[in-house]
Formats: sequence, structure tokens, C-alpha cells
Amino acid sequence: MENSAIIKINDLVKSFPMGKTHFTALRDINLTIGRGEFTGLVGPSGSGKTTLLNIVGSLDTPTSGEAWVLDHSVGRLSARQSAQLRKEELGFIFQSYNLLVVHTVYENVEFPLLLLKIGAPERKKMVMDALEWVGLTDKVRSKPPQLSGGECQRVAIARAMVKKPSLVLADEPTANLDAANSHHILKTMVNLNRELNTTFLFATHDEKVIKYLRRKIYLLDGKIDKISEQEQT
Ligand SMILES: Nc1ncnc2c1ncn2[C@@H]1O[C@H](COP(=O)(O)OP(=O)(O)O)[C@@H](O)[C@H]1O
Ligand SMILES: [Mg+2]
Repeated sequence: MENSAIIKINDLVKSFPMGKTHFTALRDINLTIGRGEFTGLVGPSGSGKTTLLNIVGSLDTPTSGEAWVLDHSVGRLSARQSAQLRKEELGFIFQSYNLLVVHTVYENVEFPLLLLKIGAPERKKMVMDALEWVGLTDKVRSKPPQLSGGECQRVAIARAMVKKPSLVLADEPTANLDAANSHHILKTMVNLNRELNTTFLFATHDEKVIKYLRRKIYLLDGKIDKISEQEQT
């Protein structure tokens, strides 16, 4: 895998068993994503975006072919190794935020650092930095039910970013947000991409997200239909 690539996918196929037969959700996927990219899998519902994002996130494995993520071949990792890859190198942002509702904003953002066994003073600084990136330092003691959808997604971004992962995967992150909040969180992620050189890979069919992507990987019926680059502005 060349140095600048963070993801490299070769001849990937993913099928799911369906009764006596199977359903092929992804086929003939060949794709390289470089470090620092701000890119997304774009396509209609059912085109395979989440399936591919889950494989890149080592939450699932290819049926055949290979998916290299940060020099690991996802299908060859043990459960323990893939958990370690996720814990140390990857950040996830989901449509439904997936926050712990009985815990404060602070505790939600702190959680990945506890898994990494980072000491208390350093943890505190990292959590407050992450909350500052997303503009939520005044909400540290709030709990998710007291926040708007946009604020919840900003907490989720802070949680994904707090350990400064190499790669952030965001699956339909704006699906529950209005236009103003969608633009706000996208701008936050664009800034983090620039400042920390974090690679972002989205799965989306939302035009509000698509217009921010520097490269778009269009999926149709489980295949790459086309790839387009945005002109730099
Ligand atoms: N675990 C599964 N078992 C069977 N079929 C699945 C499974 N996961 C996804 N699929 C199918 O694969 C296709 C792609 O799904 P998905 O990746 O979720 O698409 P998208 O995220 O683009 O909406 C869909 O037809 C879906 O029903
Ligand atoms: Mg999906």
C-alpha cells in the first residue's frame, strides 16, 4: 500500500446469506483513499454505502477481495485486533448520534479516552479541547435529552475526534438535522480536516453534505458508478 493511502480496497465483494441463496451488496469495488481526504460514498438508499463503510470501519469483513485500512487487512484481523484498530485509530459518527443519554456531554466525550486508559489530567484537557472544536464548552454538564439534534451531533463529533483519530467514518450524519445544523456540523468537520489532517469518509445521499465533499464516490447497486473531484475553490 503506497504511503499516502489510508484506505485501499481491491476487488472487494460482500454478500449476505439470504435463505438458501445470497444477496450481493457490493461487487468489483476498487478504491484508494489518501490521507487527509474529505470524501464520501454517495448513492441512493440500498446502494451499499453503509455496507462499505462498515467494512472500512472493521465492523464487518469482505466476502472476497481485500480492504486495507491503515495497513491492516480488515478480513484478516482477529476480533481483538479489529477492536483495537477501532479504539486507537478510528472515529465513528452515526445518523442517530449513539450518545449515552444518562451521561453528561463531558462523560460522553471522555468515554473513548477511558478505553485508551489515558490519565485524568490529560483526559480533561483533551475533552475540553474537543468540546471547544465543536463549540460546546458551555454544555459540559448537560445530558443529551437536554440538547438539540444539532448539539447532539456536535457531541458525537467531539467524541469521534477527541483522540485525534487518523480516520473518521460518518454514516448519514445529517439525516436528523435541519439545513442550518447540517451546514454547521459540516463546517466543523471541514475545519477539523484542515487543522488536524484527519481523513473523513462519509456515507450520504444528502445534497447538503455532498456539496462539501472534495471527492465523491458514487455507488449504484453495489458497484462504483463514477468518481468525481470537486474543483478547488
Ligand atoms: N446484514 C444484511 N443482510 C442482508 N442484506 C443486507 C444486510 N446489510 C445490508 N443488506 C442489503 O445490502 C444492500 C445495501 O445496504 P446498505 O449498505 O445499508 O445501503 P445504503 O447504506 O446505501 O442504504 C441493501 O439491499 C440491504 O438490504
Ligand atoms: Mg446506509
